[in-house]
Amino acid sequence: MTNADLEKLVDTSDEWITSRTGIKARRIAPADVAPTDMAVKASEKAMEMAGCAKEDIELIITATVTPDRRLPSNSCILQDKLGLVNAAAFDIVAACNGFINGLSISQAYIENGQYKKILLIGVEKLSSITNYTDRNTCVLFGDGAGAVVIEASDNGSGIQSTFMKSDGTAQKWLWIDVGSAANPYQFGVDHKGQDKILMSGADIFKVAVKEMGNAINKVLDDAGLTGSDISLFVPHQANIRIIEAMARRLKLSMDNVFLNIEDYGNTSAASVPIALDEANRSGRLKPGDNVVMVAFGGGLVWGSALVRW
Ligand code: UT7
Repeated sequence: MTNADLEKLVDTSDEWITSRTGIKARRIAPADVAPTDMAVKASEKAMEMAGCAKEDIELIITATVTPDRRLPSNSCILQDKLGLVNAAAFDIVAACNGFINGLSISQAYIENGQYKKILLIGVEKLSSITNYTDRNTCVLFGDGAGAVVIEASDNGSGIQSTFMKSDGTAQKWLWIDVGSAANPYQFGVDHKGQDKILMSGADIFKVAVKEMGNAINKVLDDAGLTGSDISLFVPHQANIRIIEAMARRLKLSMDNVFLNIEDYGNTSAASVPIALDEANRSGRLKPGDNVVMVAFGGGLVWGSALVRW
């Protein structure tokens, strides 16, 4: 869905969307494609790249706010679709930071030896919860999936440090009011978009720049590194202006920042793994590189991860 397509739906323009967000297009999954259908494709590619057999996956973690169903979890549906018969499976709900939370959880399980191979997926069908009459939000979001296989390394590469933080007092800055247990759908009632994503974008913008900057410094400090040690910065792709502000704060050249927001918009939990995969497949990552990932989303939740490639 291009900016020109959105100009036909709401009072917006390619100029406004491009200059305020950096987004030119976003991908919208067809009605008959479920989030786990996208997750299957991402997972198969990740397992192929990792040379990992299906029976070796011991844990499936899916980060999503748009599961196929409320019950069971996407991870269990994915387990069935992929035949990952030896795995435990659960989902995590941490909006745009879900993949980072998943990295942190995986790091703990791998380090304590409980699981040897973990399949971590970030997948969203945000088009299913986007209000296409609200220009404040509908220009931002897209659908997608990304996945990684995580296992122990014996050469010092891999996850060096992770950080997670939340602030539930600002829960209404990015939320869906109607349609779940606390406030169910009512038959015959027009919910006036309260059953779709509601966002106070400008409030989030300011806190996102500050807290993602702090989160990056935290994982760098933990590893005894500074901003100049970052080989590639793979941020959550929510807004080019947020990413540029963070890069300025860290005195990081934009040459060291991976961007694909132009093509996909904000895909929430799928954003960082899609960007990581594109960075990897396009040859931007070399052994020994320090890769910093960071994200911020509804909850509020935010976090960062430092990975040595
Ligand atoms: O990923 C999870 C976390 N979410 C985020 O990180 C989102 C963070 N926030 C943002 O990225 C930005 O705040 C937005 C892109 C959502 C909005 O950009 P902004 O520069 O903060 O704009 P604004 O909300 O302050 O709105 C400025 C003006 C308003 O008009 P008035 O009141 O000044 O006349 C809006 O009504 O822009 C108007 N506007 C639009 N105009 C054309 C808002 N959306 C649009 C639009 N097209 N799509």
